[in-house]
Amino acid sequence: MPSVSIKTYGCQMNERDSEQVAAMFLAGGYRLTDDPASADVVLINTCSVREKAELKALGKMGLLCTTAKRPWVVFGFMGCMSESRGEELFREIPRLDIVTGTHRFHRVFSLCDSLLRNRLSNPSATPLRRGAHICDVQPDPQAHTFIRDHFPSRTTCSAYVSIMQGCEMRCSYCIVPFTRGEERSRPAEDILAEIRDLVATGVKEVTLLGQIVNRYGKEEPVVNGRGAFVRLLEAVHEIDGLERIRFTSPHPIGFRDDLVHAFSYLPKLCSHIHFPMQSGSDRILQLMRRPYKQAKYLALCDAMREARPDLAITTDIIVGFPGETEEDYLLTKQAVERVQFDNAFIFQYSPRRGTPAAEMPNQLCLREKEARNHDLLDTVNRIATARNAALVGTRQTILVEGPSKTNASRLQGRTSQNKPVIIEQGTAHAGELVPVLITESSGFTLYGNPV
Ligand code: SAH
Ligand code: SF4
Ligand code: F3S
Repeated sequence: MPSVSIKTYGCQMNERDSEQVAAMFLAGGYRLTDDPASADVVLINTCSVREKAELKALGKMGLLCTTAKRPWVVFGFMGCMSESRGEELFREIPRLDIVTGTHRFHRVFSLCDSLLRNRLSNPSATPLRRGAHICDVQPDPQAHTFIRDHFPSRTTCSAYVSIMQGCEMRCSYCIVPFTRGEERSRPAEDILAEIRDLVATGVKEVTLLGQIVNRYGKEEPVVNGRGAFVRLLEAVHEIDGLERIRFTSPHPIGFRDDLVHAFSYLPKLCSHIHFPMQSGSDRILQLMRRPYKQAKYLALCDAMREARPDLAITTDIIVGFPGETEEDYLLTKQAVERVQFDNAFIFQYSPRRGTPAAEMPNQLCLREKEARNHDLLDTVNRIATARNAALVGTRQTILVEGPSKTNASRLQGRTSQNKPVIIEQGTAHAGELVPVLITESSGFTLYGNPV
C-alpha cells in the first residue's frame, strides 16, 4: 500500500484543506504517515503570510529532496506559497515534482497518484535530479465547494468546516487576497449536510472557517434582521447531537448587531471569539487599510461581552508596521490593557512582495520590531495569566479531546472559552462533555477535577 505524508504550515484553513487532500488519498487506497522519509508521496501545504512561513516550508522540502534515497518518491507543494510563487519554486528546488495552487486541492491526489504509478511501472528510470515540474495553479470558481470530505473514521470529537474561501479586503500588508482569490461562500445546505454527517460519526464541536466569516453569503438579503452568517449559525445550532459551535475569523467590518446578539440566544455558540485587532492606532489602521477605528473595535468587544459576560476574546496584532511610531505602538499596548485579551498572537510586520505596505516609507528595522514584540508579549502574557488564575475555583464544562499532548497519562479538554484543561485519566472519556472544578492554573493551562 503506498503512503503519503502531508505537512501543513499556516492557518486552520490550510489544516482543513490538508485534511481534504488526505481524505482523497485514503479513499484512493493510500496510508497516511507522519514520517516523510518513508513516504511515497511527500506533500507540504504552504503559507505565504509571513516570510518565515515560506522559509520554513522551503527549508523542509529542500532537505527532504536532497536526502531522498528512493527515486520514485513524488514531492509536491500545495497552497498559498504555490499560488504566489508558482513555477519559480522549481528553480529553488529542482527535485520538486508538483506545485498546486489554492484552487487545486481536489486535483492533488490524481496528479500525485498518476506520477507515482508511472514511476513505479518504470523501475529502470535513473535516479532523479530533476522532478517532473508540473505546475497547476489554475483558478477554479467552484474550488471552494470541494473542501467537504473528512476521514471516514475520525478519532476526534472536534472538526473544522470550511464555509467560504478567499478575501477581498486587500489590507495593505496582506498577501492572502492574492493567494486565496475572491470571496466565495459554500451553499448553506452543503455545509449543514457536512455537519450532520460529522455529528453522525461522533463529532460534538465544529469550527466554521473563513477569512472573514461574517461576510459569509454577503450577496444574500438580510432576513428578519439576520444576515446570512447568523442564519447559518442558527441552522447549525438546530443540528441535534452537535454541542458546540465556534467560528474564525470575524472582522469588524460588517460585524452587525445580529452577530453580537447571537451570543445571547445561541447557547451552543462557545464563549470565545478570535477577533483580530491588528493595531490600537487609528493612523496605523488607516495605513493598513483596515476600514474601522479603534473606538468601533472596542465598542464591539464591549457589546459582545454584554451579550455573553464570560466571553473570552483573543486577537491578532501586527507590530512594526511601516511608519509605526512609539506613540502608535503605545496606543496598541493601551488597547491590549483596555480589552484584557485572553491571548493574542503578535506578529512582527513582514513585507510581502506585491503588497502596498512593502513599498511604504519608514520601514522599521528588525531590532525595533523585536523589541515591541517582546514588550507586548509581556503585557499579553501577564493579562492572560491573571485571567486564567481568576478561573481557579470556578466550574467549567470541558469537551474532553483525548490524552494530553505533554503527558499522555492525563486527559485534556477545552472549556467553552477555548482554554485547555488537564484532568486525571480515567475520570472521563474522549468526546464527553464534563463539568469540572478548576483547581489550578499555570500560565495558559488549567487543571481540574470532574464534579
Ligand atoms: N482574515 C483574517 C486574518 C488572516 S491572516 C483577518 O483579517 O482578521 C492572519 C494574521 O496574520 C492577520 O490577522 C495578521 O495579524 C497577520 N499578518 C498578515 N499579513 C502579515 C504580514 N505581512 N506581516 C505580519 N503579520 C501579518
Ligand atoms: Fe488579509 Fe485583511 Fe483579508 Fe484578513 S481581511 S485575510 S488581513 S486582506
Ligand atoms: Fe497563510 Fe494562506 Fe492561511 S497565506 S495564513 S495559509 S490563507
